[in-house]
Amino acid sequence: MKIIDGKETAKQIKKEIAAEVADLIDNKGKDPHLAAILVGEDPASQTYVRNKEKSCSEVGILSSVYRYPSDITEKELLEAIEYINNDDEIDGLIVQLPLPDHISEKRVIESINPAKDVDGFHPMNVGKMMLGLPTYLPATPYGIIQLLERYDIETEGKNCVVLGRSHIVGSPVSVLLSRKANPGNCTVTLCHSRTKNLKKIAKSADILIVAMGQPKFVTHEMVKKGAVVIDVGIHRVPSDETKSGYKLVGDVDFEKVAGVASYITPVPGGVGPMTIVSLLQNTLKAARKEVYS
Ligand code: GUN
Repeated sequence: MKIIDGKETAKQIKKEIAAEVADLIDNKGKDPHLAAILVGEDPASQTYVRNKEKSCSEVGILSSVYRYPSDITEKELLEAIEYINNDDEIDGLIVQLPLPDHISEKRVIESINPAKDVDGFHPMNVGKMMLGLPTYLPATPYGIIQLLERYDIETEGKNCVVLGRSHIVGSPVSVLLSRKANPGNCTVTLCHSRTKNLKKIAKSADILIVAMGQPKFVTHEMVKKGAVVIDVGIHRVPSDETKSGYKLVGDVDFEKVAGVASYITPVPGGVGPMTIVSLLQNTLKAARKEVYS
C-alpha cells in the first residue's frame, strides 16, 4: 500500500507556481491578486480563508480578504461583489461557503464575474467544464485529478465509484473522470443518499472517491483489494490521544482500509492541501487571462 502524500505534492506544485508567478511579474509586470469574501464567524471557514491567504503569500500571489458580519444583507453582499468584479487590480474572487441562511448562494455565485470565478462555481464555468472547454476547474476535483496524474495512477478503462453528489466535489469529479482525457476515460458510477446497494457498488471500484461527509463511513468490507482510495472528508472528532482533545478523520476508516487499498490518501495531508494549490493555479490562469481574454 502506498500513501498518496498530498502535502508533499502540494509543496512541490507550490514551488512551480511560485516560479510562474515570478515570471509573470518580471515579464508582464503583473501581480496576480486573489480576493476572498468571508461572511460571519464560522471557525472552519475562517481557517480555510486564513490558509488560502498564507498559501497565496508563499507563492507571491497578492490576497485581500473582505470580512463581513453574518447579518450583512444579500443586497450589500451583492454590491461588494459588484465592486470587486469591476476592480481591474483583482484577478480572482471567491466567496467562502457556506453563507448565512438569509443569503441565496445561487444568487451570490451567479453575481460573480465568470472571468474572476476561480472556484469554478459559476454556471457558465460549470457548463464549460461539462463540455471540456477551457475554464477554471473546481478546486477539490482538480486537486484529485492532479494527485492521480502525479502518482501515475492509470485511470483509463477503470471503474470509478464516487460517493456523494455535491456540486463542489462529487458531481464535478464524476464529470472530469469520465471525460475523454488523461486522467479520465473511467466508467463512473455516482452514488448518493438514495442509492441502493451502495456498499456492493463501492466494492466494485478500482478507484473509489469518497465525498459524502460521514466520518469513517467506508470500511475495509466496502473496498476491493488493490483499489485506489481518495478520501475527501474532513471531520474533527474527540480524541484522548491528542493534547488538543480532538483529531481529524476522513470519510474513510483509514486504519482498516489501508490494509486492502493499493493507494490511499490520508486525512489530514491528502486531498486538503491540493485544494488550495488548485485555487492558486486558477488565480494564475485568471491573471494571465487564459480562460477569458
Ligand atoms: N466551502 C467549502 N469548499 C469551498 C470551496 O472550494 N470554495 C469556497 N468558496 N467555499 C468552500
